Amino acid sequence: MLKHIKPAEVETGMFVQGFVGSWFDHPFWRKKFLLTEEADAIKIRESKVSAVIVDVALGSAPQSAAPAVPVLAPASALPPRLPPVTGRYTPASHAPRPTSFRQETRRAAKIVEKSKKKVGAMFEAARLGQALKVPEILPLIDEIRDSVERNNKALTNLVRLKNKDEYTYMHSVAVCTLMINFACKLDLDESTIRSMGVAGLLHDLGKMAVPQIILDKVERLTDDELITIRSHPVRGHALIGDNPDIPDIARDVCLHHHEKIDGSGYPFGLQGNEISLAARMGAICDVYDAVTSNRPYKDPWTPCTALARMLQWKGHFDERLMQVFINSMGLYPAGGLVRLNDHRLALVVDNCTEDPTGVRVLPFYCTSRLQELEPEEITITPDQGVQILGTERPEFWHFDNWEGMRHAILSQSMPRSAAA
Ligand SMILES: [Fe+2]
Repeated sequence: MLKHIKPAEVETGMFVQGFVGSWFDHPFWRKKFLLTEEADAIKIRESKVSAVIVDVALGSAPQSAAPAVPVLAPASALPPRLPPVTGRYTPASHAPRPTSFRQETRRAAKIVEKSKKKVGAMFEAARLGQALKVPEILPLIDEIRDSVERNNKALTNLVRLKNKDEYTYMHSVAVCTLMINFACKLDLDESTIRSMGVAGLLHDLGKMAVPQIILDKVERLTDDELITIRSHPVRGHALIGDNPDIPDIARDVCLHHHEKIDGSGYPFGLQGNEISLAARMGAICDVYDAVTSNRPYKDPWTPCTALARMLQWKGHFDERLMQVFINSMGLYPAGGLVRLNDHRLALVVDNCTEDPTGVRVLPFYCTSRLQELEPEEITITPDQGVQILGTERPEFWHFDNWEGMRHAILSQSMPRSAAA
C-alpha cells in the first residue's frame, strides 16, 4: 500500500516509491528503491520535496500517528508534465528478451538501414516546407527502443558509423538512440522515453535551413557563417512550429540542446536549472555522437577518449547526468578506474583501434589477494571472457594520488605505497 509521508518522517527500511515535487528537488535519479543507508535518508529529509511516497508492503511503515493517505500512483518526478506522443504507436505488450551483442548487431544493422530512408525522407520534406509526419516514424522509435532494451551496445555502436553524405540523418538517428538509452537508464516513463526519442530525431532539424557548404566546411568559419550555424536551434524550433504530433520535449531539445550549464551556450545563454532535463540530456548525446563520428574536418575520438574529454569540460554539461550517461552506455572514460569480474582493478587505456567495442585495460591490483599486479594490457570485448563490472572511485581504494598512479601504471611501474 502506498502512503504519503513528510520528508522528515523518512527512515531506513522504507521502500520509496516516488517523490512529490520538482524533479530537480529530489536527490536521487531512481524513484523506486529500498532505503538502506542512513546517509540517503538524511538526503531525503534535507531535500526540498514536499512529500515522499512509500510502499509499506515492500518496506517498513512510518512511525508517525498521522493517518496515512492512500494514493493512486506516484507523482511524476519530471517537470513539466508533458503530453503523450500522439500517433498510431501501440506500446509493446511485453519487454524484449536480452540478446548477445553479436546477435543484436545483425538486427540493429537492419534498423539503421530503415532509419536512413525514413529520417532522410522526413528531413527532405521539412526542407521543402512540408509538415513533419511524426506518427509515421513512431514505429521506428519503437524498434530502436526494443533494440536498445535487448542489447544497448549493438545499436549505440553501429550509429557512430556514418559517411559524409548521410551525416545529418545518421546523427539524428544516433542521438535518438542515445536519448532513448539514456531515458531508460533514468527510469523515465514510457511516454517520456518515446518523446525523448522524437527529440533526438528532430534536435538538429534546423540544419536543413543551413547551407550544406557551411556544414561541411573544413576551414575556420567566418563570423557570418558561425552566426548562420548557430541559428539552427531557432530555425528548427520554427520548422516544428505548432505541429500537434510533436511532443513539447522535442521543441525544448531542438531549441536548447546547445545551451551549457555555465551559461556560455546558445541561443539564449541559459544556465543551471534554467535548462531542462531533456535539453541537458540532448546536449550530452549530441556532443558525444558528434565527437565520436567521422567529420570532414576531424578524425573521430574513440568512445573512451570522448567520455574522458567531455568529463574535463567543466561548465559544459550537467556533471551528475554525465555520470548517468556513461553508465547508460556501459562505457568507460580513458584514464578511469574500473573493477573486473575476476576481482581485479584496472586502468582504462582506450578503445581498440580495430574494434571500438573493445576496451583496452591494464589490470594492476587484485582485490581478493590485496596484491599489486604487474600491469599487463588486455582487451575486453562484449560477450566474451573477462568483463568490466563498473567504474570505481579511486578514493575508495585509497588511491589518493590517482593521477600519479595512472602515469606509473601506464609506464609499467607501479609505486609500492599506492595501494593501501
Ligand atoms: Fe545542434
